[in-house]
Amino acid sequence: MTENKKRVFSAIKPTGNPTLGNYLGAMKYWGRMSDEYDCLFSVADLHAITVAIEPKELRENTKRLFALLIAMGVDPEKNVLFVQSHVPAHSELCWLLNNYTMFGEARRMTQFKEKSEKAPENVNVGLFDYPVLMAADILLYQAEIVPVGEDQMQHVELCRNIAERFNGRYSPTFVLPEGRIPKYGARIHSLLDPTAKMGKSDSSADGTVLVLDRPEDIARKFKRAVTDSGKGVFASPDKPGITNLLTIYASLLDISIEDAEREFKDSDYASFKTKVGEAVIETLRPIREKYELLRRDDGALLSLMKQGADKAAYLARRTLEKVYKKIGFVR
Ligand code: TYM
Repeated sequence: MTENKKRVFSAIKPTGNPTLGNYLGAMKYWGRMSDEYDCLFSVADLHAITVAIEPKELRENTKRLFALLIAMGVDPEKNVLFVQSHVPAHSELCWLLNNYTMFGEARRMTQFKEKSEKAPENVNVGLFDYPVLMAADILLYQAEIVPVGEDQMQHVELCRNIAERFNGRYSPTFVLPEGRIPKYGARIHSLLDPTAKMGKSDSSADGTVLVLDRPEDIARKFKRAVTDSGKGVFASPDKPGITNLLTIYASLLDISIEDAEREFKDSDYASFKTKVGEAVIETLRPIREKYELLRRDDGALLSLMKQGADKAAYLARRTLEKVYKKIGFVR
């Protein structure tokens, strides 16, 4: 870590299996940022227990995601890559920040409202507190930039509000972070229901493409993708299915939607869907291959986790000590 580059922080939680949405909305960009920024990326395992998860699954998901991030280009030598629970400062700062977060502002979080309405019998306090833990993740490292998909922007805004409140009450302590979403791909939709977000939790459905899906499964999912009535491959609010597929293609290839439209202007829907599926398969193939190699040696993976956690813990402790002192704790 240098002092003159801007800091970047982001994280992903090890629930379910990472999707094409996670990849195009966030993870894809992480590996590319380390030349310009000082980057910290985390597997947010503490966030994963807000919804019931089997111990075995949590362990496996955590290792899988850590290896997958490396396979996607997050070099553990050039970035600080670590597992959130390995750095206790996250839980500590979360408790402290709870006292500078208003109940009303936390209750307004869309994701909390949606999740608690979906399963009202299953709402624990952790689910409610989830964005405060996210704020702790970001503020511990004084991150200026937080690359996320659209659904996390509101949480980054809340984080800013908490930081401002704390800074105002004491003295400048936290850098105010800014969320950054990609131009295309900030919200990838389900292939079967293009009005819904492509999410990890409905990963059994054919609407969700997983980063580690087999090529034949990816091909099948794209063949079955819902298109719209009428003809013509162009983006429009009346064509959510086609627009979603064009967005996937453009963001995969780093081209504009207009360029993608031009490429498919003479295509019928069936061959368009096949081509997008093929592009996804070819992009994910080397990632899956590298991932499989990394999973052959769990020992090596664990030692990379330790290396990342040591670096992160050092930086986190500096912020945390400042915070304790400002509040008035005896140190
Ligand atoms: P998570 O694990 O749900 O998602 C990880 C990242 O993927 C993005 N994403 C999507 N982008 C586009 N289209 C989609 N369909 C799609 N689905 C997910 C998310 O926006 C996110 O950027 N709470 C966070 C993890 C977290 C975090 C943090 C993020 C913990 N601490 C601090 C930033 C900063 C989460 O559950 O993301």
